[in-house]
Amino acid sequence: MHVFVTGGTGAIGRYAVPALIAAGHRVSGLARSDAAAASLTLAGATPVHVSLFDVPALTDAFAGCDAVVNLASALPSTATFPFYSAWRECLKIRSAGSAAVVDAALAAGVPRVVQESVVMVYDDGGSAWLDESSPADPYPISRGNHAAEASALRFTEAGGSGTVLRFGLFYGVGAAHSEEIMAMARRHVGLVAGRPGSYQSSIHLADAASAVAAALEAAAGTYNVVDDEPLTKLANAEALADAVDRRRWVTGPGRAPYALGDRTTSLTRSLRVSNAKFRSGVGWSPRYPSVREGYVQMAAQL
Ligand SMILES: NC(=O)c1ccc[n+]([C@@H]2O[C@H](COP(=O)([O-])OP(=O)(O)OC[C@H]3O[C@@H](n4cnc5c(N)ncnc54)[C@H](OP(=O)(O)O)[C@@H]3O)[C@@H](O)[C@H]2O)c1
Repeated sequence: MHVFVTGGTGAIGRYAVPALIAAGHRVSGLARSDAAAASLTLAGATPVHVSLFDVPALTDAFAGCDAVVNLASALPSTATFPFYSAWRECLKIRSAGSAAVVDAALAAGVPRVVQESVVMVYDDGGSAWLDESSPADPYPISRGNHAAEASALRFTEAGGSGTVLRFGLFYGVGAAHSEEIMAMARRHVGLVAGRPGSYQSSIHLADAASAVAAALEAAAGTYNVVDDEPLTKLANAEALADAVDRRRWVTGPGRAPYALGDRTTSLTRSLRVSNAKFRSGVGWSPRYPSVREGYVQMAAQL
């Protein structure tokens, strides 16, 4: 297939572009700068200088493509994460950007769109498993994800095949926040945001990338892309400490983020998410069944 990727230079994109090429696809990628174009070229993709918000130019760029994969995103840094104002650009990319991608894909006659989303759209499920039918929760910083999912649904309703991938918490070399958390673990600090017994669903960037390639064969719809064994936050901190071979002296911030209300809810809620639908739908399985294996791989690289 000829696949057009947006966000091909980002955390997932840097893994997804090579994975698509390795799967035999021809890849073109949106480039906002010469540096981004050079990095896409190095990965084996053809860079295209075009704005995510320019529908006529995007339509030209998508002509002849068999699929568009929208991974464009602009998450705030760890330090600014709790501030609504830091989410403005991300909200614009996920709402106006995803709408422009769908408008252009429809105008260019592209049959398939794959849209990135996150499992943090689900409501807190406690220790219960969550699947794609579990209730979602439109809290403020998730508005962009809901808008992006609505764009993919609109694409399907217009006759295309729109696939939403709800990714777990990314980790791996290149996922800045996970590198920061691993560096903290090496200083004997364990991160547990929220109740220690609450669950966190994760996905290694390499597995997020293989899921993007597998999604090109998936029926239209929404799929969770997480590993097989979500751990509790405490077990996650223990797995990280084991991977870097350091004992935990300090663990936090615990329940303190609850004081920030829905600004931190994506980090504090309990999300024990199942990947059964995606596994059975496309035959995908993660290389790293849990963070226990994935953190060891990451620690060996960093
Ligand atoms: N979901 C999670 O698990 C999670 C949670 C917390 C933190 N994080 C961290 O947050 C960091 C940032 O993540 P991210 O998802 O925002 O991805 P990212 O790694 O910053 O990549 C974003 C991609 O979107 C592109 N992009 C940005 N603005 C664009 C625009 N206006 N038009 C077109 N393309 C645009 C970027 O292109 P350029 O190369 O041109 O910039 C890049 O290719 C990651 O390192 C991750 O570790 C992730």
